[in-house]
Amino acid sequence: MTNDTASTGTKRPASEPAVAALTEKNLPEAARIIRFAFGTFLGVPDLDTFWTDRDYAFGRHRAPHVAAFGATLDGKLVGSNFAINWGSVGFFGPLTVLPDLQERGIARALLARTMEQFDAWGTRHVGLFTFAQSPKHIALYQKHGFYARFLTALMAAPARRAQTQTGLTRFSALKKTQQEAALRSCRDVAESIYPGLDLAAEIRTTQAQGLGDTVLVEGAGGLAAFAVCHYGPKSEAGADTCLIKFGAVRDGPSAERDFLRLLDACEALAVAVGMPNVLAGMNMAHEQAYRLLIERGFRTAIQGVAMHKDNDPGYCRPGVYVIDDWR
Ligand SMILES: CC(C)(COP(=O)(O)OP(=O)(O)OC[C@H]1O[C@@H](n2cnc3c(N)ncnc32)[C@H](O)[C@@H]1OP(=O)(O)O)[C@@H](O)C(=O)NCCC(=O)NCCS
Repeated sequence: MTNDTASTGTKRPASEPAVAALTEKNLPEAARIIRFAFGTFLGVPDLDTFWTDRDYAFGRHRAPHVAAFGATLDGKLVGSNFAINWGSVGFFGPLTVLPDLQERGIARALLARTMEQFDAWGTRHVGLFTFAQSPKHIALYQKHGFYARFLTALMAAPARRAQTQTGLTRFSALKKTQQEAALRSCRDVAESIYPGLDLAAEIRTTQAQGLGDTVLVEGAGGLAAFAVCHYGPKSEAGADTCLIKFGAVRDGPSAERDFLRLLDACEALAVAVGMPNVLAGMNMAHEQAYRLLIERGFRTAIQGVAMHKDNDPGYCRPGVYVIDDWR
């Protein structure tokens, strides 16, 4: 399937990879490649049991706001990538290639298609999360116009507090009409942080696929904050974990207080659904929010770097209370 080109010293596949929409039929293999690619990179001893408690392929493929791509060589799936549409903001991942076939331009082909997708959507701010210590990863993304900016810390804390001051409002518990109103309010909150940032599809698909729930925190002027959370096996969180996939607080004078209330709500959700840990991704550009997580006892489990297309800061700036990690 491959040939070595002695003249250039670089290995290239005999045939170029074909990149197209990832098919339902290929999802089990895509999921296996994701586990094996990351497991190999991280040097885990047993690939067969690595990340069997979490899913990226099926959930993202089924999400209407995600475009999933597969790379094939001679008809066989060898890698995949997922582009996520949050309105004016987009990110991609997990990008993976079969370990045996890496360094032959397969990720490059997948990335080229992914970037076309963001162009087609007209995404204004595009980013990704990657391994800060890997020259290869940084170089690969740099070739597509991404710049390494702040570190993103994936921070964990035990879930203990079951109570919040005002009770726990869960999106799933609302009636249909209330859910529509809540989605509009979540758009307003996100809009206060970055024009056009829209998590409605993420909230809907999390609920529809049973991957988790969204907590809503009310304030004096309407919805003050919300967080889309995944929890448990088959979601992106994994066993025993409530992952805050995206959390945001309405910009304004009460933002810091509302952020603490949002953390209370996420923790209460974790307790309610039997998850002993909360995991939150924090871009260190959000310096106040990062400090508050540390003060609340969150400790960094994994650290990576956010890369932004054209070095555009987007919403990664001080004074913004957002939790997300773009994985
Ligand atoms: C990251 C990953 C997707 C890359 O896939 P790949 O098919 O090996 O990547 P490609 O061969 O298309 O591109 C790698 C590029 O990096 C370049 N590169 C590699 N090491 C480099 C270095 N130290 N400095 C500069 N460039 C480097 C290669 O030359 C190549 O560029 P080229 O195509 O212009 O020659 C793959 O290694 C993988 O699946 N890793 C495990 C999972 C993972 O980490 N996913 C990404 C998470 S953000």
